[in-house]
Amino acid sequence: MPEFVGAVDQGTTSTRFMIFDHDGNEVARHQLEHRQILPRSGWVEHDPVEIWERSNTVIQNALRACGLSPTDLHAIGITNQRETTVVWDPRTGRPYYNAIVWQDTRTDTIAAALERDGHGALIRRKAGLPPATYFSGGKIQWLLENVAGLREAAERGHAVFGNTDAWVLWNLTGGPDGGVHATDVTNASRTMLMDLETLDWDEELLALFGIPRRMLPTIHPSAHPEAYGQARTSRPLRSAVPIAALLGDQQAATVGQVCFSPGEAKNTYGTGNFLVLNTGTELVRSEAGLLTTVAYQFGDAPAVYALEGSIAVTGAAVQWLRDQLKIITDAAQSERLAAAVEDSGGIYFVPAFSGLFAPYWRSDARGAILGLARYHTCEHLARATLEAICYQSRDVVEAMEHDSGVHLDVLKVDGGVTANDLCMQIQADVLGVPVSRPVVAETTALGAAYAAGLATGFWRDTDELRSHWHESKRWQPRWTAEQRAEGYEGWKKAVGRSMDWVTV
Ligand code: G3P
Repeated sequence: MPEFVGAVDQGTTSTRFMIFDHDGNEVARHQLEHRQILPRSGWVEHDPVEIWERSNTVIQNALRACGLSPTDLHAIGITNQRETTVVWDPRTGRPYYNAIVWQDTRTDTIAAALERDGHGALIRRKAGLPPATYFSGGKIQWLLENVAGLREAAERGHAVFGNTDAWVLWNLTGGPDGGVHATDVTNASRTMLMDLETLDWDEELLALFGIPRRMLPTIHPSAHPEAYGQARTSRPLRSAVPIAALLGDQQAATVGQVCFSPGEAKNTYGTGNFLVLNTGTELVRSEAGLLTTVAYQFGDAPAVYALEGSIAVTGAAVQWLRDQLKIITDAAQSERLAAAVEDSGGIYFVPAFSGLFAPYWRSDARGAILGLARYHTCEHLARATLEAICYQSRDVVEAMEHDSGVHLDVLKVDGGVTANDLCMQIQADVLGVPVSRPVVAETTALGAAYAAGLATGFWRDTDELRSHWHESKRWQPRWTAEQRAEGYEGWKKAVGRSMDWVTV
C-alpha cells in the first residue's frame, strides 16, 4: 500500500514537488525557479514549456532524494499560480504564446472598457470578481485578438486554454497522446467566465470576452478520485499514479491551514499576499473590494466559498530590491538590512507595480516611494518594503472585517516571507493582533496533497487533517495603539498618492 502523497506546486516564481507522509510531515522536496520574462513595462510572461520541464525535473528529483518510486505515491495533487493563462495546440502541445502571468497589466483597456460599458455589475454578480487585468478572461481575449490565426484555430478546436494547473495536468496525463483537459472549480472561479452558482462556464460571460467555449477545460470538483486521470507519461511518473486533486494555490493553502469552518482564515505571503476567509456554502458578496471565490469542493459535497483579499506585490517587492535595485543579494538580507534601523524614517513604499489589487482595484496606480530626504538609506527602504507587505495586509483585513463581521483574534500565516521574523513582528504590530505560523509552513503543497489524499481515502476526513496542525511560532503585537494609528494613517495617505498615475 503506497504510504505517501505528492503535490506539484506550480508557483509564480518556481515549481516544486513535495512528498508528505500520513501525518502530513514533509518527506522530500525539490524546487526550481523559472524565468520571469518582462518584455515591456507592465507585461509579465512565463515560458510554458520551461514550466512543464521544471515540473518534470522536480518530480524526478524529489522522488530520487528520498529513494521513493512513483508506486510509493498513493495519489498526487496539483496546485498552481492562478489566473496565469496558457493557450496551446492540443495536437502538438506547442503553446501559441508565452503564458500571460496574473500580474500582467496589458489588458487594462479591456478591463476599463468592461466597466465603462456597464458590464461590471454582471461580472461581479455572476463571477464574484470586479473587471480587472488580474483574471484570465481578458488575457484570453487579448491572445485571440493579437496572435495571428489563433481565433480561427480556437474555433476549429486547435487551440485550448488552461491555467497552469490544466497545462501541467494535460502534459502529465499524456499531452497530445490523450492528455486530460480539465480544471477545478477554484481555478475556474478566477477567470471571470464561470458562474459561481452553477459552477459552469457561463455563455453570457463568454460572449463578453468573445471566447469560444470549446477552448475551455472541463470543470470538476477540486478533489476527485477519477476526474483527472492518471499520470502515465513515460517521464517523470512511469507508472500510473492517480491525480486526485487540482486546486489554486491560495485555496490549497486554505486547506493546508485546515480552515474548514466558516470564519477561519489564513494569509499567505508569496510573490503577493492572499488572505482567504472561509464563508462556508454561503456566497458572500463583498462591499469592500474583496473577491468572492470558491475555496474548494471535495467530491460530490457542495462547494465551499470564500472571501479573498488579493495583493499583487509583497514578496515581489523584496525581489525587486534584489533583482532591479540590487541593494540585497538574497531575500533574507532584507531582514538584516531592515533590522539595522529603528523604523523606516517616515518613508512609505507603495509597491503598486501591477496597479493596486484588493481592496482598491486601481489599475491606474503605480509604485511610489514617499517622504524621501537625503538622510534615508537602503536600510530605511528595506524596512519600508517590509512595512508595505504588512500595511497592505491590514487593508484587506479591514475589508474582510467589514464584509464578514468576523473579527480575527489571531492571523494564521504561511508562505516564504513568514521566514522573515522581523516582517512577522511588524505584521503583528500593524494589525494589533497576534500572528501565528504552523510547523509546516509549506501549506500550499500540503493542501494539494491533503485534497488528493482525501479523494483517494488516504486520509479519512478533515478532522484527521486538523489534528496535524501545530503552531511553530507566534508573534505578539508590541506597538502602542497610537503608533499603530499614526503609521496606518501615513500608509493610507501614501496609497492615495500612488493612484491616478497613468491613464487607462
Ligand atoms: O493569484 C495569484 C496567486 O495564485 C499567485 O500565488 O504564491 O505564486 O505568488 P504565488
